[in-house]
Amino acid sequence: MEARPRPELFDFHGVGMIKEFTENWDNIQNFKARADDILIATYPKAGTTWVSYILDLLYFGHMGPDRQTSIPLHDRVPFLELCEPPLPLGTDLADKLPTTPRLIKTHLPVQFVPKSFWEQRCRVVYVARNAKDNAVSYFHFERMDSGMPEPGDWSTFLLNFMEGKMVFGSWYDHVNGWWEKKQIYSNFHYMFYEDLIECLHFVNKHFAPKERVKASATFDNMKQNKMTNYSTFDTMNQTISPFMRKGKVGDWKNHFTVAQNEQFDEDYKQKMKNPDLKFHYEI
Ligand code: A3P
Repeated sequence: MEARPRPELFDFHGVGMIKEFTENWDNIQNFKARADDILIATYPKAGTTWVSYILDLLYFGHMGPDRQTSIPLHDRVPFLELCEPPLPLGTDLADKLPTTPRLIKTHLPVQFVPKSFWEQRCRVVYVARNAKDNAVSYFHFERMDSGMPEPGDWSTFLLNFMEGKMVFGSWYDHVNGWWEKKQIYSNFHYMFYEDLIECLHFVNKHFAPKERVKASATFDNMKQNKMTNYSTFDTMNQTISPFMRKGKVGDWKNHFTVAQNEQFDEDYKQKMKNPDLKFHYEI
C-alpha cells in the first residue's frame, strides 16, 4: 500500500494546524458539552495519555479488567478535534460515549475551545510539561507518526518549535493562554507533568527496584499495555520511536547542544514573562 503523504502545516486563525484537526470545525465549535464532562487539555506530548488513563481508572476502574484490556484508551477518552478517516470523528465518539462523566481530550489552544464547555462550567484539567522535554517528545512523535508533518532534523525542528510553527501552535502561547484562563475560570486544575513524575519517585523512594509501585498507570505498564501504548494506531511506526518513549524529566539534555540551550533560554525569557508560571527542567 502506498504511504499517504505527510500533512502540511498551515495558518489557521493565527495557529499552526493540519486539516486533520480543522475539517470538522463547525461540529467542534457547536459541540454540546454536558455539565459533568471533564475536559483534559494539553499541548501535544505533555502527558495527555498518562493523565487520561489515570482519570479513566479513577472513574471507571471499578467496571472491571475488561475495560482495561479490550477498549483502547483513545476510544474511552475521545480526542475532540480529531478528523482522520477512517477513524471515527472525535465529536461523534464523544457524543456516543456510554459512560458518565465523559472524559474528553483536546489539544486546542484555549481560544478555540467550544463555548459550551465554559457555559456548562465543565471541569477542566490542563497538563503542562517543561518546554525542553516537550519539544524533544514532540520531535520524536513527529518522526514516528505519518499523520503529522515531517519534523526535519532536530535543529530545524527546535527552531520551528521556538517560532511556534507547530501543530496546535506555539507551546508558549498554549501554556500561557490556559494559565490565564485558570485565573478567571475556577473549575480548573492546572497541573505539571514533572509533578506527577516527582510524586511517583517520592512514593517509590524507599523500595528496591523490584518492589516498586506496580500500579497500572506506571510508565512500564502503560508501555506494555496495547490499550494505552497506541500500537493500535496505523499511522504510528513504533519501530522509529515508540509512543511510550522514555517518560522522563530531563531527557532534553541528551538532545540540546550547549549553543541550542543558550539560544533557547534567551528566547524563553522574552516569551515567558509571567513569573507565576514556573517549570521544572530536572527533578
Ligand atoms: P516521552 O516522549 O518524553 O517519553 P502525550 O500523551 O501527551 O502524547 O505525551 C506523551 C509523553 O508522555 C511521552 O513522553 C510518554 O512517554 C509520556 N508518558 C506517557 N505515559 C507515561 C507514564 N505513565 N509515565 C511517564 N511518562 C509517560
